Amino acid sequence: MADSELNLVYHGILLPKVIHSEESLKYLQNFQFKDDDVFAVTYPKSGTTWMQEILPPLLNGGDLSSVETIPNWDRAPWLEETRAPVVLDKLPSPRAIVSHMQYNLMPSSFFKSKAKVIYVARNPKDVIVSSYHFHKMVTFLEDPGTFEEFTDKFLSGKNVFGMWTDHVKSWRNPELGDRILYITYEEMLQDLREVLGRILKFLGRELSAEALDRVVNHGTFKNMKTNKMSNYSLVPDDFMDNKKSHFLRKGVAGDWKNHFSPELDAKFTAVIQEEMKGSNIRFPWDEE
Ligand code: A3P
Repeated sequence: MADSELNLVYHGILLPKVIHSEESLKYLQNFQFKDDDVFAVTYPKSGTTWMQEILPPLLNGGDLSSVETIPNWDRAPWLEETRAPVVLDKLPSPRAIVSHMQYNLMPSSFFKSKAKVIYVARNPKDVIVSSYHFHKMVTFLEDPGTFEEFTDKFLSGKNVFGMWTDHVKSWRNPELGDRILYITYEEMLQDLREVLGRILKFLGRELSAEALDRVVNHGTFKNMKTNKMSNYSLVPDDFMDNKKSHFLRKGVAGDWKNHFSPELDAKFTAVIQEEMKGSNIRFPWDEE
């Protein structure tokens, strides 16, 4: 299918039509944030589903029942997607909400509210690898072509959700002050318990050591992979074909090394460096 049949354009950014509609984007624009909402923002394939797994129990005293009985997309809904108008207003507070939108596309209520934001970044080389395999398994995204072709689109923002660099830079806006916590997917992989402790402190919340252990254990890749409320096995095959790949695919850092030639690596690094120039944003993977 042609790109235009699969995607709509919202403020210059391609969004998949199946999960975004005029109605859902209007809902986003008119959405009223509450001060106790917790908002996790990611560029796609950077750990969104992981945040949907760990945030609800962190916000409800460690109760895992929602994670065991409610699909991730209804438990911590995407603000911009078609499920939002159906489920968000009925969610009990404090609500965990996720989004792939850039900062400048937030509704006006966001800027007036005290809702806290957690921004999760991931090495863009692993983001694109994850995204490439995801494009192969879902029918609502265009065929990615070769990995090199897919990389060219990613580097020029002609992919869904636009430029990774624009996304990352937009959420570094100083106006956010101490309303935002920056974490990385790689830190979560390295020491989930430590990151969850940081999130709790940021949110001004506490959990007993036992409850925190349970959330950490529940949020491991192995356990999420077998949780049908989080592994997307509830989605029909003609939408997301689990025989081609799995949503919870590898869950590692550095898989890009199995996909990038030295030439592609040099090109990718040069474009990202150029785009990030002058931003003063440094990530651990920049030193690799
Ligand atoms: P891979 O495709 O590299 O395995 P998102 O939810 O933002 O779309 O991100 C999906 C990526 O996060 C996938 O990466 C998925 O496996 C990974 N992921 C989700 N939960 C994880 C966990 N508990 N541990 C490690 N990786 C996880």
